[in-house]
Amino acid sequence: MNKTRAITIVIFGATGDLTKRKLIPALFALHNEHRIKDFQIIAVGRREFTDQKFRDHVKPSTAKDWINFSKNITYHKLEFTNTKEYALLTKKLSFCTNIAFYFATAPEYFSIIAEQLRKHKLTNESIGWRRVIIEKPFGNNLLTAQALNTALTKAFSEEQIYRIDHYLGKEFVQNILVLRFTNTILDHLWHKHIIDHVQITVSQKDGIGTRAGYYDNAGAARDFFQSHILQLIALVAMEPPGSLTAEAIRNEKMKVLEALEYAGVLDESTVRGQYAAGIVDAKKAIGYIAEANVPKQSRTETFVAAKLALNNFRFAGVPFYVRTGKRTTDVADIHIVLKDLPCLLFCALPTAKTRSNVLTISIQPKQGIALRLNGRSTGHTLGVQPVKLEYCQNCTFGSTPEAYELLFADIIRGDHTLFTSWEEVKRSWQITDKLHEHWKKNKNLPLYPAGSSGPKEADILIEQDGRRWI
Ligand SMILES: NC(=O)c1ccc[n+]([C@@H]2O[C@H](COP(=O)([O-])OP(=O)(O)OC[C@H]3O[C@@H](n4cnc5c(N)ncnc54)[C@H](OP(=O)(O)O)[C@@H]3O)[C@@H](O)[C@H]2O)c1
Repeated sequence: MNKTRAITIVIFGATGDLTKRKLIPALFALHNEHRIKDFQIIAVGRREFTDQKFRDHVKPSTAKDWINFSKNITYHKLEFTNTKEYALLTKKLSFCTNIAFYFATAPEYFSIIAEQLRKHKLTNESIGWRRVIIEKPFGNNLLTAQALNTALTKAFSEEQIYRIDHYLGKEFVQNILVLRFTNTILDHLWHKHIIDHVQITVSQKDGIGTRAGYYDNAGAARDFFQSHILQLIALVAMEPPGSLTAEAIRNEKMKVLEALEYAGVLDESTVRGQYAAGIVDAKKAIGYIAEANVPKQSRTETFVAAKLALNNFRFAGVPFYVRTGKRTTDVADIHIVLKDLPCLLFCALPTAKTRSNVLTISIQPKQGIALRLNGRSTGHTLGVQPVKLEYCQNCTFGSTPEAYELLFADIIRGDHTLFTSWEEVKRSWQITDKLHEHWKKNKNLPLYPAGSSGPKEADILIEQDGRRWI
């Protein structure tokens, strides 16, 4: 392997699930689109693999031009906790200029790897850039996140750190800002005078699969709420940034997170749940505690819903209802529900089915926007019915680049915009830790059938305000 390649990507934990399913396919796609050139990948793992065995291990099922790509990959055996083994890796990297270190491993190893990279002067930017990519979750709570950040910042500066929330790499998440800040119509409605409430749902039909070890320690609050949900709220509610620089965007997102609180006491503004056996895709699905390697007494939540409030001028009094759950439906949608007009004319008609206007931003599986309006119903009798104006980007243009592709391209370019700053992570943990504190006292963990939309308590959370989940 030529050691003087322009870019070296070192993946720690390269025999794991993330590398095989996301990282290698993303780099392969970038290579195929000629977006990454003159690079090498050093795959670091503890297994006894040869270069070829590793390449076969991560080879996607359809892999045109794989040989051309995979010859850029070499395997390097290293046990993270054995500090003596880092010298050999350092030697291998000695002529490399620009290096991205991807920590695709459990967070407990982040500190030791970072410390060893620092000791071996691999974090020093004298001959090229050095960047570190950290997977979410960044810590397990504020305390562990702070410890991790302290360890990381001993080795890398904040500028060198890329904290991944892969949701931010999704095209339609980025589209939230484009939609909001390029369309007069949306600019005018984005205000407490017009918006009644906001709903955000990010949920999955899948259960935990083989990831019990991770998931049972995390749960829905740490896994999705602390990162994806809070980031989506920040993008929906932020003020226009002064420019498109990472700093300007992060600053505006941070102001939203600072102003974000639970809307009232947590007993009334939050709900958690755990999936029980049910039916998914017309097949029987087991409950959470029956999943492989989940302790039978586990009280880990697989669902969270919350009602949040923003104490800022634009959104004061506009509730944000959010929910995320496993074994529900595959959907990530943001609904901006507008206030109703006074019911003076058509809604008095017996045939009127007037509904609130809703602007929906769909992130997955559909990527698009839709606007629900009211129109005249067809037929002889004057009536009203909801109509939908819809634009589906992936239906029109086909699939969009995977989040990790866009994120890798940004890391190589040195663009931090789609990565979370330490301040955002810290504030997100402060908000999320309140849930865990609350659950120490409130032991209620309602079950919901797999394949349903979540526990009935989540419906009550919104229905007690005279609203419904869309
Ligand atoms: N998988 C996902 O979809 C996903 C999504 C978002 C975030 N993440 C995060 O990404 C990280 C990696 O996830 P993953 O699912 O890929 O985990 P994983 O499948 O458990 O892989 C972990 C990797 O670390 C290696 N490893 C563990 N201990 C080691 C040691 N002492 N020395 C050397 N290598 C060691 C493993 O080697 P062996 O193969 O030999 O065990 C494996 O290559 C985690 O922080 C996870 O939370 C994952």
